[in-house]
Amino acid sequence: MQKVANGVWKFRFGEPEAHTPVSLGDITIKYKELEALDCSGAPPINSDDIFATRTPRGVRVELPLMQEEHLYGFGLQLHSVDHTSRKKVIRVNSDPVADTGDSHAPVPFYVSTAGYGVYVDTSRYAAFYCGTNLKKGASEHKKEVAKEVGTSEIELYGYQVTEGDRTVMIDIPAAAGIELYLFEGPDMGTSVQRYNLFSGGGCLPPAWGLGIWYRAYSAATRDDVMRLASTFREDRMPVDVFGFEPGWQSRAYSCSFLWDDKRFPDHQGMLEQLYGMNYRVNLWEHLFVHPSSPIYEGLKPLSGSYEVWEGLVPDLALPEARHIFEAHHTQEFIDQGIAGFKLDECDNSDYVHSNWSFPDATEFPSGLDGEQMHNSIGVLYQATLKKAFEKAGRRTLSQVRASGALASPYPFVLYSDLYDHKVFIRGVVNCGFSGLLWSPEVRQAESPEDLIRRVQTAVFSPMALLNCWQIPNPPWMQTNREQNIRGEFADDYEAVREVCRSLFETRMSLIPYLYTAYARYALEGRPPFRALVMDYPEDVHTYGIEDAYMMGESLLVAPIVTGTAERDVYLPEGTWLCFWTGKQYEGGQSYHLTPGLERIPVFVKDGTLLPLAKPLPYVAEDAVFNISFRRYGTTASRCRLYEDDGHSFNYQNGQWNWVDVSLDEAGTATVQRTGGYEGVRYAFTGVSAIN
Ligand code: GAL
Repeated sequence: MQKVANGVWKFRFGEPEAHTPVSLGDITIKYKELEALDCSGAPPINSDDIFATRTPRGVRVELPLMQEEHLYGFGLQLHSVDHTSRKKVIRVNSDPVADTGDSHAPVPFYVSTAGYGVYVDTSRYAAFYCGTNLKKGASEHKKEVAKEVGTSEIELYGYQVTEGDRTVMIDIPAAAGIELYLFEGPDMGTSVQRYNLFSGGGCLPPAWGLGIWYRAYSAATRDDVMRLASTFREDRMPVDVFGFEPGWQSRAYSCSFLWDDKRFPDHQGMLEQLYGMNYRVNLWEHLFVHPSSPIYEGLKPLSGSYEVWEGLVPDLALPEARHIFEAHHTQEFIDQGIAGFKLDECDNSDYVHSNWSFPDATEFPSGLDGEQMHNSIGVLYQATLKKAFEKAGRRTLSQVRASGALASPYPFVLYSDLYDHKVFIRGVVNCGFSGLLWSPEVRQAESPEDLIRRVQTAVFSPMALLNCWQIPNPPWMQTNREQNIRGEFADDYEAVREVCRSLFETRMSLIPYLYTAYARYALEGRPPFRALVMDYPEDVHTYGIEDAYMMGESLLVAPIVTGTAERDVYLPEGTWLCFWTGKQYEGGQSYHLTPGLERIPVFVKDGTLLPLAKPLPYVAEDAVFNISFRRYGTTASRCRLYEDDGHSFNYQNGQWNWVDVSLDEAGTATVQRTGGYEGVRYAFTGVSAIN
């Protein structure tokens, strides 16, 4: 057992594989920030309590799991949150049809309510048996309990939970050795912070990335795009990011990585117009390189042995391949002002047509096989484009459909439009355990009610995204897809649009608060979105909560899913106040809520001085937020905000401030700035109505 950093320990067994997330990644451990966290000086699990063995399959590791412990993590799990007594296989897949571990972003990392985390450094499809199986003989003491044999299905082979102190057994195929990293607590939240700081800290998105995202119809032409873009501004619908779907390219599936000049004549002229209207432009793509692409020949010797959609699979574990891919993106897109990309279809699938992805037995020139590449490709893809934006000196917030271990520094948000509303919410609950961000994106909806409920969740999530790639007109004009395509608008569209506008404005007003939460992710490793159990590990009532989460330090979000008008919400101990009305609730109990269609239940911690900005239509480079405060509770008098230029990397050289605001009884604000940023992004206007 070796100490790697404050509160981080490495356990090594045998000869680990050459290609693992740690060896492939460009990890910058945040030693100084880790030092700032309290540390007991001893590893959270004794090396004597870890059993590792070579098996004919690879390596098996056993770690202790105590009776009362509950385990969380394993990446973006969409079927469950508490993984105790479950088996999870770390295998990237775009169609996680069952609770097997398959995910767009599976991560071999778990955290325990006992206050520690374990990361297994492998790119293999490792299986974690989280207390599912007892060792031979362990049930012998039970044999004297005479029990009549039940004959129903449930009695015969229903789900049995193992009891007592047991183990987490990890089966790592193909490996001859393994490294485990252990992260101290003292609590779950701190273990996750340490994991994120070990990975390099959380990402800090540009401020515009926290505004509203709109992805346009796949078949849109230049005229369609400009019409939509003008309409948003005319209708005062705040939108920051305009997304182009596959139709912008001359060839997609696989990709040419070139504009289609027929659909988009003088595309640079169009981009300039969009930039002039303060839009940031995001381009859809995937990794697979079509023979018509200018980067095809260069990448051919640097690619895997099988094609995907008739395109190359570049081996991004090779610096030369990364360089070709990055240079093309820089020259053709980033230098032309493109603000980000949507990295699609990099997550493999078993259930769609056969050339969706490459076989597990594919050989890559770097020496990775297909299995390892599947579990690494999302992160390698993000790393390639992250570097391009860093060299350009501009921050991005982008999208990606596959991710994995040690991914917190990547400014990419996961997405997929395959899920129902409930699953989208569970994704937000889960993502914070493993250094990931997830967007409960809004596609077109089934009805105005569905649209409003989904928009509510989206605006209280890591990325507020409307993915309208299947409809030419905004969903608030018409939710029915066929009618939307025919241009037939709903009679009451103005009312629906008004509700959406008001929700978008709520998001815009929360940007300084949310930006501060993201800054804590970058500086301290604290995830901006968290399951309640991460903040309240002592409270067993939070262990199974899959439908509510914390946003930043003070907001508890409990969305209402489509098709229902009511729900129960459990509020942990302490006093909470309704975000909208200020009504007070005592924690430690559940409440039944029927808030009406226009309200998503959101609760504010007592004592919060909540900063709310006057909603901007978009976040321009020189944006200044006009902030007023709402006092939640009588003691609310202090608020701390993070401030920097919002778009460059100068914050990494100390050009950022903490802005501390204190409010006296009369509502007069005293503002103190500490730090090296000389600009001013926040103007304060006092207290709004006390809620
Ligand atoms: C899907 C993706 C959608 C959309 C579509 C375009 O795979 O999840 O959001 O981009 O591809 O073909």
